[in-house]
Amino acid sequence: MTRPPGQDYISSARIRRRVRELGCSIRKFYKNRPLTIVALLKGSVFFVVDLLRHLEPSTEVEFWTVSSYQGTRSTGRLQGLHACRGNFRGRDVLLIDDILDSGLTLAYTRDHAKKLGARQVEICVLLSKKRKRVRAVTARWVGFHIADRYVIGYGLDMDQRYRALPSIRALPSGV
Ligand code: IMP
Ligand code: MG
Repeated sequence: MTRPPGQDYISSARIRRRVRELGCSIRKFYKNRPLTIVALLKGSVFFVVDLLRHLEPSTEVEFWTVSSYQGTRSTGRLQGLHACRGNFRGRDVLLIDDILDSGLTLAYTRDHAKKLGARQVEICVLLSKKRKRVRAVTARWVGFHIADRYVIGYGLDMDQRYRALPSIRALPSGV
């Protein structure tokens, strides 16, 4: 196996501990309210599955496949939203994504979930980059605040590769 690029950034043990904490906090917050999780694919694939292990068994789950990135750059447009559906009337929706970067992905998907009738839309991301957002987005739950570096692993890709790494690695700045 060739060595993956970049350097160790967040270990799988730290991710596991933090995901458990997030799950407990989310479970308490929603207590007896019917919750639908909307996971944004493909990046949140590991995160949402690990998080779900800590949530109420009655939690409903939708998967939306959207993308804005090409290589390591955002294109500024979101593809795939027209096909994203869900029966949200009167329900609380929690959007799950791997990383909050420019804010475009979560701003568009949050607005879309509201249009579909969600009572309330909250956001949970594993990572949040410290940078200026293009769209204002507030995530109620953030796993880790990170520097403005390109990261891979635990679902995060570089041109569709390296999602399968169990931990998160950071590429050198400027990539
Ligand atoms: P935003 O729309 O700019 O906030 O970007 C969010 C999406 O871009 C995320 O769902 C990721 O799929 C992707 N993305 C942003 N930064 C990174 C990164 O450092 N590594 C891998 N994917 C990223
Ligand atoms: Mg993504």
